[in-house]
Amino acid sequence: MIYQLPTILEPLELAALFPQPQPLEVELGCGDASFLIEYARRQTARNFIGVERLLGRLQKLDRKGRRAGLNNVRGIRIESSYFLRYLLPPHSTAALHIYFPDPWPKKKHHRHRLINEQFPALARAALAPGGCVYLRTDDADYFAQMQEVFNAAREFATADTPAWLAEITTDFEREFNAQGIQTLRAAYCAR
Ligand SMILES: C[S@@+](CC[C@H](N)C(=O)[O-])C[C@H]1O[C@@H](n2cnc3c(N)ncnc32)[C@H](O)[C@@H]1O
Repeated sequence: MIYQLPTILEPLELAALFPQPQPLEVELGCGDASFLIEYARRQTARNFIGVERLLGRLQKLDRKGRRAGLNNVRGIRIESSYFLRYLLPPHSTAALHIYFPDPWPKKKHHRHRLINEQFPALARAALAPGGCVYLRTDDADYFAQMQEVFNAAREFATADTPAWLAEITTDFEREFNAQGIQTLRAAYCAR
């Protein structure tokens, strides 16, 4: 289930990844992929890509996906913003999921955050018309930054996270919930 990119110099050829041409959703920084595998199990008429930089975590995606008998999930080992900027074909994606991205809490490290001023335009370029970005975090300061950059992006409108999506939790979300740490979520859909 781990897709080896033939090149990082050309956009992905989606037909090479999946047996069925179906609407695509992408999770950037999918971690151990519990969310993605459960979501893909429930939504068999959609294709899913999990992007993750750590091989060990992608191997868990691979194991879980095989165990569930899924053919609509692939994991790709690459840096998320590079993937979004250069590899995801334009207007190819129905939804982008970014859950508990590294918060980079120190101010001098904020420039490493995935959701920054450039992100909405990159997301909009990858999304199909009406496509949505779903965000979750435990970090209030990062959440405020997420809201700020999307509220300033005229190509997006605020939306609700549907209950059927919110009920599928991620590994990190479950850990935070178990520790009583509040988590935050937001959604923005292309106008
Ligand atoms: C805090 S974990 C959250 C994982 C998962 N989304 C969840 O909620 O359980 C963040 C994940 O993003 C990955 N990650 C962080 N920065 C990344 C980047 N620039 N490109 C790809 N993956 C990245 C980390 O390796 C880690 O697995």
